[in-house]
Formats: sequence, C-alpha cells, structure tokens
Amino acid sequence: MRKKKSNIVLIGFMGCGKSSVGKRIAVNYNKKFIDTDSEIQCMCGMSVNDIFKKYGESYFRKLERNYCKLAALNSGYIIATGGGIIKDDNNIENLKLNGTIVYLRCSAEKIYRNIKNDNTRPLLNGADDKLALICSLLEEREPLYSKYSDFTIDISSMRLEESAWQVGRELRRFGFI
Ligand code: S3P
Repeated sequence: MRKKKSNIVLIGFMGCGKSSVGKRIAVNYNKKFIDTDSEIQCMCGMSVNDIFKKYGESYFRKLERNYCKLAALNSGYIIATGGGIIKDDNNIENLKLNGTIVYLRCSAEKIYRNIKNDNTRPLLNGADDKLALICSLLEEREPLYSKYSDFTIDISSMRLEESAWQVGRELRRFGFI
C-alpha cells in the first residue's frame, strides 16, 4: 500500500480550473482548501497583477517559493497552485513532501475560452493574440507539469463536477486517499 500523503496539490496551466475543481474536491472529501495565489495576495494585501506591476515577476516567484515551503507544513489540504509553480524545482520538492501532485491537463482552446475576457493574469495581459501565447506557453510547460505530477487527468472536455469526481476516483484507485 502506498504511503498516503496528506495534501492533494493541483497543478496545471492558468485558467484550467484548479481552484474551482479544488474547492469541489475539498467539499467531496471533507478537506480544507487553499490557493497559493490567494494566500500570496492576502499576505501582500495586493493582487497578483499589482505585485507583477509594482515589483516584477521575479519578486512574485520569490513569494511563491516562500509560500510553497509554508504550504508543505500543512496537512489535510487541497492546494490549488499558480500555473507557474513548476518553474522552480524547489516548489515541487516542497509540495511533494506531504502532497500528491495531480496535473489537470486542459487544451489551449478550453483555457482560452475560460480566460479570454479575464485581465487578472499578468503574463497574458496585453497579448495581441492570447490564444497563440497560451499555446506557446503551454507547449513549454506541458513537459514540466507531466514530469512533476503523480498522475494526470485531462479535463478539457469535462465540467467542474465531473473533473472533481474523476480526480477523486483516480486518487482512490491509486490509493492516494
Ligand atoms: C501564473 C499563473 C497565475 C498566477 C500568476 C502567474 C503563471 O495563477 O500565479 O499570474 O505563471 O502561469 P493561475 O494559474 O491560478 O492563473
């Protein structure tokens, strides 16, 4: 029997639905929920957009790194992460200490549909062709999401309920919960 880790960590591209799916899994399995971006925003009293604007991406990445160290000390959480969490090996190392990593894979088209009118993502704001940028960033990051995850669920054609149900099913099937 696999040793159960206490947290479930959702990784995946921005706008794929990590927070919505995570909240639902938390309800289904009676776990607590946190979102790394929301925690960082609370700690700074600023939106992610404003942190990027005022201090730059590298400062945000530092905050993200520090928060991953803290998150690893938690138990019994569903943790939704920012899409760039995989840019630093240390983040994943920390999150893996007490977490099962689940990659929510999603097609570029679905991501685009989810966030085309959303201006809260600084890396996509102002792009002439948002879909093209999503495609190229996704291509660059996909190998990292896959490499770091314990398993992957492709939620491209699933609604929220089904995504949460499928993640739960796989977690049970592989003995993660
Ligand atoms: C980022 C994703 C965002 C947020 C920041 C950077 C990224 O989180 O952390 O804008 O690099 O992919 P979501 O994945 O929740 O949108």
